[in-house]
Amino acid sequence: MYRKIYRILKSKPTLEGAGVHLKRAFGYNEVPGLDPFLLLDDFHSDNPADYIAGFPWHPHRGIETVTYMLEGMIEHGDSMGNKGVILPGDIQWMTAGSGIIHQEMPAGYNGHMWGFQLWVNLPSMYKMMEPRYREVKKEHIPEVAIGRIVVVRIISGEFKNIKGPVRDIVVEPEYFDITMAPGAEFEHTIKKGYRVFAYVIEGEGYFEPDKEKLIGIEHLVIFQDGDKVKITSGDKSLRFLLVSGKPIDEPVAWAGPVVMNTQEELDIAFEEYRNGTFIKRR
Ligand code: FE2
Repeated sequence: MYRKIYRILKSKPTLEGAGVHLKRAFGYNEVPGLDPFLLLDDFHSDNPADYIAGFPWHPHRGIETVTYMLEGMIEHGDSMGNKGVILPGDIQWMTAGSGIIHQEMPAGYNGHMWGFQLWVNLPSMYKMMEPRYREVKKEHIPEVAIGRIVVVRIISGEFKNIKGPVRDIVVEPEYFDITMAPGAEFEHTIKKGYRVFAYVIEGEGYFEPDKEKLIGIEHLVIFQDGDKVKITSGDKSLRFLLVSGKPIDEPVAWAGPVVMNTQEELDIAFEEYRNGTFIKRR
């Protein structure tokens, strides 16, 4: 059975970090509608004033943050001494777990900046896991082409027996960046019960087999349950992110960059941040 559309949302202008103008596809107000996912931000601008203030030092606990760049770059550094640059086509899958303090500073390329940050929740038994990074460079992300009219970049999950480089993530996510020529079709089976969404980043297309609604850029499509998705591009080409994962189905207590199960756990996190015991040494 093909999955039907449950909801279509348009991303909303949002101010974050030290003054970054971005577009939020979903976030706090949509919880728990996208469980296990918490937030998706789209940073797309040709004006450095929109993003240069960046995201100076801040903590995370209880979640994973996934940064995927298309244009420009993000320089990052953290409390574990990691430092690096996320370049176009690269992905950083950061598991904050018990706690990380980091900064993420965008730098455009000829003024251009385009990237996405997805927040993935962690189940209670993994919220305090050891922090870890998966940094994958563009050349290590496989692309599968179907007859030159559909190209699937596989960040995580599996398509046509090719596995993406980000593996062993608790909610068993799939994260694809899919480009389709005009009039092309794409089908993919996703486990029943898993949450699935698509976010359109270029062009427009149909996200149900009946092709009634043409959906364009900066729109988020949340699917109903089912076995597989069928997506068809219209007269224009289409590019979208297709993301799925296993729902966690636990209470969500969320305060800024920390997402736990209870208010008490949030209070502990911020108290530890204030008194300098937020980072757990192992
Ligand atoms: Fe962050």
